[in-house]
Amino acid sequence: MRRSFLRLLTGEREIRLTRTAPSPDELREKFKEIDSLGLYVHIPFCEQICPYCPYNKELYSSDLADGYVRAIKREIDLYADIVADRPVTSFYIGGGTPTTMLHSGLAEIVGHVRRAFDLRCDIHMESHPNHLSADNLHAIESLGVRHLSMGVEALFDRHLKTLCRPYTVSQVKEAVARAVSYGFTCVNVDVMFALPGQTYGEIEETGRELVRLGVDQVAAYPLFLFPYTPMGRTNGARGHVIRQSIKRRRMLRLLEDIFYQGGYERTSVWAFTRRGVPRYCSVTVPLYLGLGASGGSYLRDVFYLNTFNVAEYIKALESGGMGIALSVDLTEGMQRAGWLYWRIYETRFRRADYRERFGEDLDGAYGRYLGALSRLGLLQDDGELIALSDRGAFWLHACEDLLSIDYVGKLWGTSQRDPWPERAILV
Ligand SMILES: C[S@@+](CC[C@H](N)C(=O)[O-])C[C@H]1O[C@@H](n2cnc3c(N)ncnc32)[C@H](O)[C@@H]1O
Ligand code: SF4
Repeated sequence: MRRSFLRLLTGEREIRLTRTAPSPDELREKFKEIDSLGLYVHIPFCEQICPYCPYNKELYSSDLADGYVRAIKREIDLYADIVADRPVTSFYIGGGTPTTMLHSGLAEIVGHVRRAFDLRCDIHMESHPNHLSADNLHAIESLGVRHLSMGVEALFDRHLKTLCRPYTVSQVKEAVARAVSYGFTCVNVDVMFALPGQTYGEIEETGRELVRLGVDQVAAYPLFLFPYTPMGRTNGARGHVIRQSIKRRRMLRLLEDIFYQGGYERTSVWAFTRRGVPRYCSVTVPLYLGLGASGGSYLRDVFYLNTFNVAEYIKALESGGMGIALSVDLTEGMQRAGWLYWRIYETRFRRADYRERFGEDLDGAYGRYLGALSRLGLLQDDGELIALSDRGAFWLHACEDLLSIDYVGKLWGTSQRDPWPERAILV
């Protein structure tokens, strides 16, 4: 089914990433056609490794963090030369847990980015609830962070225990309240639902409590089981797919009702943002550079990924390399399908945006699919603006397991096993 979907949308049988990397000269050429870009910086450290987490991370050590700062500064210098004076219009620091480096190099990295690039935006950054003391919030704000996110995950102690999160409900609520009252433009809280044994009553209570706490945005994800994580390995057969999908759907419905009544609107497939607040999100532009171990870059007709291994990343940069492990040239079909997937994921886009990006009418390539999706009530289409309905968001959720989560699982699983894989084939 996935294969047919891929074929239908992109014309390809598979996505094949190989160990070839675009050269600095090739990248320089690409940037001549790019007006602005987004920047992603990956901080691959955590104080503790959570058993469900698919992201690229390792335990924090100050030696490794020192080497990482030196390496990422080199990578910034390399790209500053390639990007030239193109403005950076979105800047996101993710992880791992960026705040592990709050007092050991993060300010140096951000300062280096500011000197190297023409930064024309606020910073969006992820954090951990245990790192949000009043002093740390001040240090975070001093970096230029205006949009702050934290992984709360659950508001019942028994679920926090299942997820091995190192805090209690009352501690995490205090951290949320401190962040909310600090005056950031947007405070986002991540929670997970459809957790083992979680009841509908618990998810309702969680949604209501988040509204009461006054968070600006909630990103609610169903628990995905990635086969290469400890929880994925032991709970692979957890429940029947259909039973899980009914539970996810009902829980998501409950959350939708609570957030809509609370004055929030859907701003991505997963996120609900208080009306009038600029949303917290990872990349707000369609083209971006990803720096650091496992940083991924998407530059119009190429996607590439740095090595996931922190020591190898540092070694590569120290020896004058770029740290790129895998890349794929994107055909026109892949670019169009990728663009459309991400715009629908953001829940709305204009036909004119597609015309501007690809120089042709959206309906030529996708008119009949969009028509069918509108008739099924998955999209609302007023002739110019196309918006995902709640029903559409649910089906995109349901398909995520089949599409992006499976791709991400394969690509990240391969990259975590082998720092320099020969290839990764996504079918
Ligand atoms: C990088 S972490 C957040 C920042 C910080 N490291 C923390 O744990 O608080 C990103 C978020 O992805 C979500 N996440 C991680 N693993 C997940 C999984 N297996 N299924 C669904 N969501 C997941 C969690 O909500 C988590 O907060
Ligand atoms: S969930 Fe957050 S703290 Fe836990 S391992 Fe993943 S990135 Fe680190």
